[in-house]
Amino acid sequence: MRYPTNDLEHFFMPFTANRAFKAKPRLMVSSKGVECESHDGRTLIDMSSGLFCVPAGHSRPEIADAVSEMLRDCAYVQPFQHGQPAAFELARRLKALYPGDLAYTFFTNSGSESVDTALKIALAYQRAKGQGQRIRLVGRERAYHGVNFGGTSVQGMVKNKEQFGPGVVGVLHMRHTWSKDELYVRGQPERNGVELADDLQRFCDLHGADTIAACIVEPVAGSTGILVPPKGYLERLREICDTHGILLIFDEVITGFGRIGGNFAGQVFGVKADIMTMAKALTNAAIPMGAVAVSDEVYDTIMDAGAGGVELFHGYTYSAHPAACAAALATLDIYEKEGLFERAREMSGYFLDAVFSLKDLPAVTDIRGIGMLAGVDLAPKDGKPGARGGQAVQDLWDEGVLVKMTGDTACIAPPFVAEKRHIDRLADGLRKVFGRY
Ligand SMILES: Cc1ncc(COP(=O)(O)O)c(C=O)c1O
Repeated sequence: MRYPTNDLEHFFMPFTANRAFKAKPRLMVSSKGVECESHDGRTLIDMSSGLFCVPAGHSRPEIADAVSEMLRDCAYVQPFQHGQPAAFELARRLKALYPGDLAYTFFTNSGSESVDTALKIALAYQRAKGQGQRIRLVGRERAYHGVNFGGTSVQGMVKNKEQFGPGVVGVLHMRHTWSKDELYVRGQPERNGVELADDLQRFCDLHGADTIAACIVEPVAGSTGILVPPKGYLERLREICDTHGILLIFDEVITGFGRIGGNFAGQVFGVKADIMTMAKALTNAAIPMGAVAVSDEVYDTIMDAGAGGVELFHGYTYSAHPAACAAALATLDIYEKEGLFERAREMSGYFLDAVFSLKDLPAVTDIRGIGMLAGVDLAPKDGKPGARGGQAVQDLWDEGVLVKMTGDTACIAPPFVAEKRHIDRLADGLRKVFGRY
């Protein structure tokens, strides 16, 4: 469907240099599979799956059909004290994919809502256990957990925080896990994972373990440039949480649904979370949807404490929206029928070879990667962090290869339906553009 673009002025665009964009727009008018068509009639390849959210390729007709049928049949049901069968079926299907003892799913409309929901569930759980004094939340530097108040507070990206005041009180940040001492690592770095995770133990020693409700981490930090955890890091976090009754939350909004080589990062790294957030890839981005999975223990504790009434005073008007549930069910069917998680695993070696082949470029200062996810750091322009990345957005657009730039880092996440020729074009395009810097 094509709409006219008579006036670009009145859309207040998210995370965008609005004035610069409107002076020189980059509009997409059509997207199919791995390719997108720009407003000026060029074909581009999408090598970041949109924002990591379209692993099955753009505009899948199977999903459109499922959504359309649901919208004609049962477009909306209020989700408080009422329900729609698709939501229960989706929760059942998701449970089969979860790692560890995650078993129950709460539905939201985005990753940001999933993060805030997870943090609130953690607080509610502690209170239900008679541990209402546990109100501290632990996040990490260079984390991204979305843009709602809880997520803004626990995340660790300065630009996302500085405009908005102190946020939620009682938040502590562990150190990030990237180090200039171990560059160009494929998979998990070898160095000081346990020592970095011991930041959590230090918070327990300093503030009292019984003041801490939960620790939230992305198993692989995504938006800040694909920071794969050093060996032993996640295991040590789990150990400290177990010792002190702290809940461990994995934010799997990017790593979920096959992106790093298993259903979820929890399986890949063999570490259990008590709560896990999801969003991207759940509906292949056809309809906004997020989700939070909780363990039996978390669910049962909250249920027992609230027995007889509403157990959790939290929810959204569009929680488990029927159209989103239909989109998610159709997406899971595609993943299963086309074996897309296996395909991603098989393509990972070829993809990482292609990205790591950029190591010789003078402007490239580090490369990291796991599964179908990779980060390439570019040397910042003198005194202007982010300026080179901003330039790269335009240059990559002109070159016809799309990846997500965060600051001066390229975050690359091809759709799982990408073929070797797309990966080759990605490597050529990046070499051409980054080779000029
Ligand atoms: C790890 C993580 N958590 C949360 C979010 C927020 O998701 P959304 O943009 O859907 O609110 C993101 C988005 O990139 C993310 O990467």
